[in-house]
Amino acid sequence: MNVLIIGATFGIGYELGKKYLDQCDNLILLGRTQEKLKNLKLEFNSKTTKISTFSLDVTDKINCQKIINEIIKEFKTIDLAVYCSGYYEPHDTFDIKLELFEKIFAVNFFGMINCFSILLPHFKSQQFGHLAAISSLAGFGGLPNSSSYGPSKAAMINYFESIKIDCDKNNISLSIINPGFVKSRLTEKNTFDMPFIMEADKAAEIIFEGLLGKKYDITFPIQMKIVFKILQVLPRPIYFFLVRILTKNI
Ligand SMILES: NC(=O)c1ccc[n+]([C@@H]2O[C@H](COP(=O)([O-])OP(=O)(O)OC[C@H]3O[C@@H](n4cnc5c(N)ncnc54)[C@H](OP(=O)(O)O)[C@@H]3O)[C@@H](O)[C@H]2O)c1
Repeated sequence: MNVLIIGATFGIGYELGKKYLDQCDNLILLGRTQEKLKNLKLEFNSKTTKISTFSLDVTDKINCQKIINEIIKEFKTIDLAVYCSGYYEPHDTFDIKLELFEKIFAVNFFGMINCFSILLPHFKSQQFGHLAAISSLAGFGGLPNSSSYGPSKAAMINYFESIKIDCDKNNISLSIINPGFVKSRLTEKNTFDMPFIMEADKAAEIIFEGLLGKKYDITFPIQMKIVFKILQVLPRPIYFFLVRILTKNI
């Protein structure tokens, strides 16, 4: 089995990579930070899994497509690809920094499409494969301080729903992963209390199990999942009333 993790240098993607040691033949790890990629080859020691690393910036569409094509040429088949690259920065509603909106969408949404533009046709030609991406609970509904990040994550969730039926027809499995708060470089930026925050290793364990079971929707932790799934279906006046209470300390 060949597993590709995009955004494997830090955080959740890095921890997820560890879970696939001894679980696959080839583990292909991608990210921008060259030093970290070099270390991964030394650090991720396995008797049965060969580790390969490639440096790529998902926002550079030409280079991104080139590298994924090179990977396909080298490994022939990809069984599982997980898109973990992401960016977040909290910001004020009334101080709209266009560059920040562009960066967040470039990494979270268009970066994913740059990768999928090569991976999806490849999976179609293989007539098998499992494609996954980390979205967020923030994609379920609009939240304060999240007017750039939330919409980028909502776009990912909607995109997965859009391609699901065609992927089913071509024997391609999909998983959209929606974590709550996880300790990483991204959440270090938050100054507010983050309920049910978990270690990246624990999040990776839940994701690994969900991917193993080929679950379409991997949303956790359970407490946040219940709250967000209910909020999602409520009439908007009740939604805004509850979100105002739940986020009063943000
Ligand atoms: N932490 C949370 O609470 C939380 C909650 C819900 C969802 N998520 C999502 O989970 C995913 C992983 O986040 P994390 O918390 O693990 O953050 P992280 O520790 O900052 O890791 C982000 C990963 O994305 C890669 N990345 C960023 N920009 C990239 C680019 N332009 N090209 C290629 N790779 C890039 C980073 O590698 P390089 O810097 O080496 O490129 C790194 O490996 C993100 O999509 C995030 O939105 C996180």
